[in-house]
Amino acid sequence: MFMKREQWGSRPGFILAAVGSAIGLGNIWRFPYMAYENGGGAFFIPYLFAMISAGIPFMIMEFTLGHKLRGAAPRAFSKLGVKLEWLGWFQVFIAAVIAVYYVAIIGWAISYLGYSFTQSWGTDTNAFFFSEYLQLGENSPSKLGNLQMHIVLPMVLAWGITFAAIFTGIKGGIERASKIMMPLLFLMVIGLITRVVFLPGALDGINYLFEPDFSKITDPTVWSAAYGQIFFTLSVGFAIMIAYSSYLPEKSDINNNAFMTVLINCGFSITSGVLIFAVLGYMAQDQAKPITEVVTAGVGLAFVTIPAAINLLPAPYILGPLFFLALVVAGLSSHISIIEAVTSAVIDKLNWSRKKAASVVCGVGFAVSMAFATNGGLLLLDLVDYFINNVALLASCLVELIVIGWLLKISDIRDYANDLSDFSIGKWFEICIRFISPIMLAVILATNLWKTFN
Ligand code: PHE
Ligand code: NA
Repeated sequence: MFMKREQWGSRPGFILAAVGSAIGLGNIWRFPYMAYENGGGAFFIPYLFAMISAGIPFMIMEFTLGHKLRGAAPRAFSKLGVKLEWLGWFQVFIAAVIAVYYVAIIGWAISYLGYSFTQSWGTDTNAFFFSEYLQLGENSPSKLGNLQMHIVLPMVLAWGITFAAIFTGIKGGIERASKIMMPLLFLMVIGLITRVVFLPGALDGINYLFEPDFSKITDPTVWSAAYGQIFFTLSVGFAIMIAYSSYLPEKSDINNNAFMTVLINCGFSITSGVLIFAVLGYMAQDQAKPITEVVTAGVGLAFVTIPAAINLLPAPYILGPLFFLALVVAGLSSHISIIEAVTSAVIDKLNWSRKKAASVVCGVGFAVSMAFATNGGLLLLDLVDYFINNVALLASCLVELIVIGWLLKISDIRDYANDLSDFSIGKWFEICIRFISPIMLAVILATNLWKTFN
């Protein structure tokens, strides 16, 4: 039976969905710390360089692949060469692995959204998170009751929302969800910033973030951090952007869409940097500590430091829920995109209906993600997260660049994108795809492997 491929309903709809994928936990809890640690204001030079030389070209390339080849990653790559289908499945596999642990963190954020109304995490937010919430302590009988109720139920909720969006389809489900979630996210973050910058110490915190340490500019690890952050933050190399762009209408301005997606994502990162450091600056001042003693990243920032900061904020019952709702929304819109990358690959390959594919993918995903709801969950999550970010993602991006840049005719991709777009991109695109990005990726990957095994 021939079925017409689904399509996005509007251009802003597509961009919001792509931005929804790109903006995730990484923008909120990874970027601010990366910038702070790698030269503060001076980090923006390598960061912007990486954005232009790797982020934008990669996005244009993936949007073109999806638009031109009309398939999720496995089908798109197989149309480029029968032997390349595995690359698509490798990327889908990485996406699936990310999906099952990303959802655990979204689940935690949902729990914390609930706790934030009354700050029921108490004063020792560290003990609360590890012993009470995750129940990792020796024999720490938790007041929260059994693990299922406070960890599994929020994960069920997160899966339910993702499932509803994917099951309903591109336009009615994912696009509609993105059109609600993304504006809501921007409003919440702007609302939070507007309040917190006026707190004492907030400006000192922001200064810390932006204070340039130019001596770092010559440090190679700073450059590799910038490139690593760009690949991670833009969700490229995960089969996601190829799947999303395979649903673009015939007439679509690829270059413009790619620029918008990248710029909105990176703008959001800088905005969250301001938010996080304003809060940290306030907290440092309140506790009369230097800011270096309060900065954290990742799980520790979101579930230990921020709750402690919320305890100190005015109207914590408003600012707390706003923060955690923002985290949930940013995470869910990314989770939806990861699951869609898997689902559309299954639809392409097996000719299943969307409803059937969505049910099977979410069903299996849900079952596997329960491994992260056990007491070993955090350990497993750390391990998988480390491997994905430091090895698998980089390797996948590198292979994709080599295949497209060296085995195929990369100028075809540029011509194709330029034909469709209002403004054209120049020869720099090819230089970035063939030389700059793969060289940077190879260096980072080699360094990471070296560090892992030494
Ligand atoms: N880009 C997302 C972020 O910055 C992370 C992500 C990874 C999203 C994988 C989708 C898939 O958090
Ligand atoms: Na991002």
